[in-house]
Amino acid sequence: MDARSVLRAYPMVLIRQYDPTADYSALRACFVELQTWEQSLEPGLPAPEEVADPYLAEVFRNCAENSGRIFLAETDGAVVGFICVLAKVLPSADDGIEPYAYISDLIVRGAHRGRGVGRELMVRAEAFAREFGAKQLKVGVLVRNEGTHAFYRAGGFRDYTVQLVKLLDAASCGTA
Ligand SMILES: CC(C)(COP(=O)(O)OP(=O)(O)OC[C@H]1O[C@@H](n2cnc3c(N)ncnc32)[C@H](O)[C@@H]1OP(=O)(O)O)[C@@H](O)C(=O)NCCC(=O)NCCS
Repeated sequence: MDARSVLRAYPMVLIRQYDPTADYSALRACFVELQTWEQSLEPGLPAPEEVADPYLAEVFRNCAENSGRIFLAETDGAVVGFICVLAKVLPSADDGIEPYAYISDLIVRGAHRGRGVGRELMVRAEAFAREFGAKQLKVGVLVRNEGTHAFYRAGGFRDYTVQLVKLLDAASCGTA
């Protein structure tokens, strides 16, 4: 596939593959914004600056192990967002036999939202997943991230699982 494509909705933006020799600090800045956003919704999440490097190391490892790619959105030489898609994730035995594709991260930086950039990152990620023969694309989203649910639904996703959490600290033990 061509490494770059010009967006129709926002002509100054390119979608291209992450280049590890040049793009790490831009990717890191995007991740810090993503984690800051998610932490504003779930304050118990780890601090963005503390978790950025270990988390991105995990992302690169996941890409190596699950046929993943990172695509960047760039405008005027600046990275304004990224998506990470894993093309071949093995399901657990009770959830099917076919590998599925998984969006592990997506962000468009605040000043660039609402112009179709997120949609174009998804288009590229979906095309990449299809090239690997994936039949399903999944993503996990915080329940409190409601605007992003609307974004995914607008892109053809439907609700699938809901993950529940309970705090097991002393205060919550033994309460009905
Ligand atoms: C979710 C996100 C990537 C969307 O990027 P974007 O560039 O603003 O989205 P687009 O402009 O491409 O919108 C695509 C479609 O989604 C809809 N959409 C996007 N954000 C929406 C919102 N907050 N509420 C309702 N609909 C929304 C748009 O209306 C558009 O619909 P259309 O196809 O009918 O026109 C961006 O808002 C973001 O980075 N959010 C914070 C980080 C985050 O939540 N990441 C996902 C973690 S799983």
